[in-house]
Amino acid sequence: MLEKLMVVGGRPLRGTVQISGAKNSAIALIPAAVLAETSVTLDNLPHLSDVAIYTEILTDLGATIDWNEDRMTIDPSQMKPLAMPNGKVKKLRASYYLMGALLGRFGEATIGLPGGCNFEPRPIDLHIKGFEALGAVVSNENGALHIRAKELRGAKIYLDMASVGATINIMLAASRAKGLTTIENAAKEPEIIDVATLLNSMGAKIKGAGTDTIRIEGVSELHGCRHSIIPDRIQAGTYMIAAAATRGDVTVDNVIPKHLEALTAKLQEMGVHVYEMDESIRIVGQPIYESVDVKALIYPGFATDLQSPMSSLLCQAKGVSVLTDHVYSNRFKHIPELVRMGAKIRVEGRSAIIEGSQLSSAKVRATDLRAGAALVIAGLSVMTGGITEVSGVEFIDRGYENLVFNLSSLGAEVWRENEE
Ligand code: EPU
Repeated sequence: MLEKLMVVGGRPLRGTVQISGAKNSAIALIPAAVLAETSVTLDNLPHLSDVAIYTEILTDLGATIDWNEDRMTIDPSQMKPLAMPNGKVKKLRASYYLMGALLGRFGEATIGLPGGCNFEPRPIDLHIKGFEALGAVVSNENGALHIRAKELRGAKIYLDMASVGATINIMLAASRAKGLTTIENAAKEPEIIDVATLLNSMGAKIKGAGTDTIRIEGVSELHGCRHSIIPDRIQAGTYMIAAAATRGDVTVDNVIPKHLEALTAKLQEMGVHVYEMDESIRIVGQPIYESVDVKALIYPGFATDLQSPMSSLLCQAKGVSVLTDHVYSNRFKHIPELVRMGAKIRVEGRSAIIEGSQLSSAKVRATDLRAGAALVIAGLSVMTGGITEVSGVEFIDRGYENLVFNLSSLGAEVWRENEE
């Protein structure tokens, strides 16, 4: 049964919220465990639908998984590179990491082209070029990629774009290739470092993760280990924006403040008060915000995943803000929904031009994960009260653990209802 979120506006969020482990790390670390011959334990694992689907996929491939609270142990010793052309892999964008992981461990993978949040076409040509550079032969048959290599050999790979997915996928395969692989123009997101840290604990030899050149010396075998997942910077950023938008006072706890610097700087520029501690950030909202221009860029720039939530906050700034996404050209499916709530926004090319306005409650639909977060924030910030109905909660469940519980404990009135 599909559900919708009912969000009452006008209540400032107050209190402390604990941030879980990072979704975009978790869904790369789980397939990375496939490369080991013995058990890998992941701590600080978020409870998310994408994580649940991934565990089902690995179980179908022969892994034994024990998931208890925020800890998961994956025993990949009995896994087989079975073909997965359809079904569960289509529900998840990050199923593409099975390509690199199975290729590295078994020299072959047959995986259906990924699904996930389709806010725009998201090609994986750079992943494929990377596998080919390592010596694999790749063919597309009826929407599934068949990837085979007699032997993976290290190579020098230059990425046309600093793609998160391609960087991680190549690291996965190359960690068991023969010889040295160099990835130039690699993505630098914190999740890349997290994956490299896990792989190194498994016995891989990866240097330079977090810079634009990553060097991977292949090894013949990887073993199990225990690893704690980094905090989810996007989830943290979403609560920070929600706190500002409701003129609240919220501390987000269990975060790495450095990962949120670009957002912190923008919030401060708007006039929000932000206090950084060692592992937490406190946001104190203010009555009036200045308009700002925001450019979503690759890390350490402003995260594209926070672009949609940020657009809801910018509706409350006086004057005109320009929000441009340099990572995705058309990640603006939430804008028509915000306009239904009274926002004054027009999209021009890669930019949303946002004029300050009073939002009012409405029935709106989330069509992807971060669009959903944007609409929840907009609903919370309707100053005149009223209930905003956000349908498409299944998208939000992909990336926000315990959203209703967390918002309620911060004083919001939010609940789930079945969709008629
Ligand atoms: N691109 C290509 N070819 C490729 C790969 C990417 O043209 O082979 C382009 C994409 O179309 C896009 C840009 O390069 O314009 C960046 O894409 P990237 O590969 O970095 O994104 P991704 O790995 O598919 C991950 C996150 C996204 C996040 C982006 C950017 C996962 C599973 N997804 O996607 O997260 O937006 O990095 O940081 O890790 C989300 O969490 O809501 C989400 C969509």
